Amino acid sequence: MLERKRILLILTGSIAAYKSLDLIRLLTKAGASVEGVLTEGGKQFVTPLSVETLTGKKAHVEMWDSQAYEMSHIELSRRADLIVVAPATANFISKMVRGEGDDLASTLILAKNKPVILAPSMNVEMWENPAFQRNLEIAKSDGATVIPPQADMLACGEIGMGKMAEPGSIMEVIDDHFRLASTLEGRRAIVTSGGTIERIDSVRHISNFSSGKQGNAIAIALAQSGAKVTLVLGKNSIGPASHPNLEVLEVVSAEEMHESVHKALPADIFVGCAAVCDFKVVNPSDRKIKKSEGLNIKFAENPDIVRSVGKLGPTDRPAVVVGFAAETEELIDNAQAKLDIKGCDLIVANNVSGGSVFGQDDNTAHFVTPEGSVELGTLSKRQLGQEISLWIFERLRR
Ligand code: C5P
Repeated sequence: MLERKRILLILTGSIAAYKSLDLIRLLTKAGASVEGVLTEGGKQFVTPLSVETLTGKKAHVEMWDSQAYEMSHIELSRRADLIVVAPATANFISKMVRGEGDDLASTLILAKNKPVILAPSMNVEMWENPAFQRNLEIAKSDGATVIPPQADMLACGEIGMGKMAEPGSIMEVIDDHFRLASTLEGRRAIVTSGGTIERIDSVRHISNFSSGKQGNAIAIALAQSGAKVTLVLGKNSIGPASHPNLEVLEVVSAEEMHESVHKALPADIFVGCAAVCDFKVVNPSDRKIKKSEGLNIKFAENPDIVRSVGKLGPTDRPAVVVGFAAETEELIDNAQAKLDIKGCDLIVANNVSGGSVFGQDDNTAHFVTPEGSVELGTLSKRQLGQEISLWIFERLRR
């Protein structure tokens, strides 16, 4: 995947810069061509000569380099496919979000026309500092992909978040980037995620334990693939996903989710990942029902959102409709039946007999289509999102 890919690697001032030398080695071994830029801080930790030796190319430090006969701050990003900042210090990220350019690295970020991946590295207090976290959120909403640091004993001796991700994990993210890049450019997608809330009265409701992790990961993977995504998000425990290609519509009940989905149509892709409550309360009370009154709840069925989209007529139905099926028995047969009942092209089936997947970071899934089923094994929800995005890409190419 990295064969002949051109990566511009910026090393800023953190002790983790020594690990970036290993990252260069891994990247070049995988066939990528790496060009290095060091800030003054980066130069304190590794020498330009080390970077040059490993990349086989001149390492850039100076803004005004009369030997280069080019405007480095512009040319460097033009000839790269991807910019990776590893390690990325709090100061560098802060300069980035303020649009400051006072050295070669920050100016080239200002003049960049390529995607950016950041691998932050810093002391735990700096990482947790609200000012830094605000900057990080801005960097993300400006389109940067952030590889979270790890929690560990830090170089300063303190313990907590801040240790730069390992070169192997950074490689994985770079690899994902090239796997997904632009595969769904020009497509529109709608994804439902999270659980729904069905009101009983003004203070009580019925819901489920959906965290929103899987649906949000799918929305992010589709957005990273270049699709414009509407994420219709119900109750969740992780907050809305964020990406420049992503619009988030927050909803409460299944009926609201149904309405938002249909308002967001037309789309090329629909993925129904939400844990929708099958039933709603017929007459929710506007006031708190007293204990002495007793609880006499009447239920009615909610609309089946996936089915309502999957069964649309040929002019309105998205070209690809994906549903989920959590089953405890006869996983494949039940999922196969759901393909027809709900009008889906793909059912992502998970066996939940061993316990709930709600809130977990992993998912064990099968892809079930009219042609048969494929076992994916256990993947992180992020990886499963990417597999779904790639499956959709292949299906749209048919
Ligand atoms: O029928 P079951 O709940 O097993 O189907 C699961 C799939 O159907 C999921 O994709 C879920 O998002 C979707 N669903 C829906 N509307 C409902 C119930 C389920 O979209 N009311």
